[in-house]
Amino acid sequence: MCGIIGIVGVEPVADRLIDSLKRLEYRGYDSAGVAAMVDGHVERRRAQGKIRALEAVLAQEPLAGTVGIGHTRWATHGAPAERNAHPHTAGRVTLVHNGIIENYAELREELRAEGRSFQSDTDTEVIAHLLDRTLETIPDPLKALKATLDRLTGAYALGILVQGEKDLVMGARRGSPLVVGHGRGEMFIGSDALAVGPFTNRIVYLDEGDFVAIDHQGARIFDAAGQPVTRPERMVSPAAALVEKGNYRHFMEKEIHDQPEACQHTLSAYIDPVTAAAKAPGVDFAKVDKLQIVACGTASYAGMIARYLFERLADLPCEVEIASEFRYRRPALAPGALALAVSQSGETADTLAALRWCKERGIQTAALVNNHESTMAREADVLFPTHAGPEIGVASTKAFTSQVAALTALAVAAARQRGRIDAAEEARLTTLLMEVPRLIAQSIGAEDEIKAIAADIARARDVLYLGRGAMYPLALEGALKLKEISYIHAEGYAAGELKHGPIALVDEATPIIVIAPSDELFEKTASNMSEVIARGGRIVMITDEAGARHAPEGVRVVLAPACDPVIAPLVFAAPIQLLAYYVAVQKGADVDQPRNLAKSVTVE
Ligand code: G6P
Repeated sequence: MCGIIGIVGVEPVADRLIDSLKRLEYRGYDSAGVAAMVDGHVERRRAQGKIRALEAVLAQEPLAGTVGIGHTRWATHGAPAERNAHPHTAGRVTLVHNGIIENYAELREELRAEGRSFQSDTDTEVIAHLLDRTLETIPDPLKALKATLDRLTGAYALGILVQGEKDLVMGARRGSPLVVGHGRGEMFIGSDALAVGPFTNRIVYLDEGDFVAIDHQGARIFDAAGQPVTRPERMVSPAAALVEKGNYRHFMEKEIHDQPEACQHTLSAYIDPVTAAAKAPGVDFAKVDKLQIVACGTASYAGMIARYLFERLADLPCEVEIASEFRYRRPALAPGALALAVSQSGETADTLAALRWCKERGIQTAALVNNHESTMAREADVLFPTHAGPEIGVASTKAFTSQVAALTALAVAAARQRGRIDAAEEARLTTLLMEVPRLIAQSIGAEDEIKAIAADIARARDVLYLGRGAMYPLALEGALKLKEISYIHAEGYAAGELKHGPIALVDEATPIIVIAPSDELFEKTASNMSEVIARGGRIVMITDEAGARHAPEGVRVVLAPACDPVIAPLVFAAPIQLLAYYVAVQKGADVDQPRNLAKSVTVE
């Protein structure tokens, strides 16, 4: 995912590529590289570490040319080393890639069998080889690109140079965004409007599956079937670039799709990809006796999920309380506690008051916030940032999963600091976390199925959400999302509580959404589902393939990818968000600005 820029320009390209990459630094990265077309040949420069390291390389070995591509990389496949930095070259092809190619191992075997050798550990290099090989039989670069894309499974945004094609940069997107920028006699591609912001504000957002060729004449865009298409051009000011809807109908829809990137950017602040260590900058959890999380709304559910992780992984007693209750309860907090405020805005009045209450009593405070300039960010002793980017939809989505991602990484760091896990287990857990962006992208893949189910749910008056373990707070969050934007009454329950009251509500008019990955609690949740079915209830179960195989008869299944329980709340969040979203769209509700709600509640 990381950052991409591509330029077909009239001025020297190297400095411009660097300028653009600097604007993408906010995303987090561990290496960077550029390549340019010099007299029909492609030359590249790469460096591990910050962009200034790449600038130092360029100072030693300047790069000429007016056509080029650039990239900032955050390691997924292969350590952050120069050989793994983009651009990657194979024969005539040099390219940069955001995303993850899932079938890269089998493609690499196929290409190796043909005698091709690989210089890096990345999935990306496979695309370069595949395109280079295809060009041998299909000389037209666009046709060869289409044939190459047809072989790829997974997510990608690409920027491509082909040796001999002096006036051409190609791009493609699936799962990772890519924009086209129109300049004066110059053309650009970028991973977002910010990337091309220094050069133009005339932006075209590519649709899923599109690929594009830019040259000095303009852009030729093709859809996934290879048909020429036009996509609308928009004017995007640099300031607005971060808060553009792109081709999405609502900010909420866009922000749900932003989650793989938002989580990746956030995780890059908490995981060192070289050592596979989790970081908790500013806090030594070995010295903390108790973690007291305070938050409101969706952020409090992120906190509830974190409690399962801090207690299970780090053996650290953890309490989560709604800030509006905490502040008036006169809680008995010992000096060894760490008070952690979780908040997207960093301004929510009750959460801020709870944070101040703790601070006044000499308790160490931390704020996990998305707005890094906010009051909480400034007042807390320690700032734990999330990097979701601005969230515009009132109903929180990418801020929520970014909070859960950061809290999960912090729980791993706490476990290590407290000696509850060794370095090998820490590496296993952080590797799992680095898989999260890809798995979220996969869970968003159930969108069409969810849309179909939403048409049915939209007719309901009441909806119940059930989950066990860390899926219980996710059930609460699912119910909150539905209430907030579709105005349908919804309740979340721990599945084990079903018998203690809510089962009285079960009838054929009340859909029940069950979040049940195939974990150690699955059997118990399956029994609860049978109890519901026996009473005429209609169930939608969000589960993985193994869970689907054991689904009680009559259950409608939404498939999410199988994953370790530690990351399941992150992977299972998108389906419940999409369900609420499509129910609200079905009902014609104002999705981004639901009635009576505010994005930042700065009053009690
Ligand atoms: C409001 C928003 C919710 C949000 C809550 C906490 O109620 O509508 O989406 O979860 O505030 O906001 P915070 O900015 O503190 O995360």
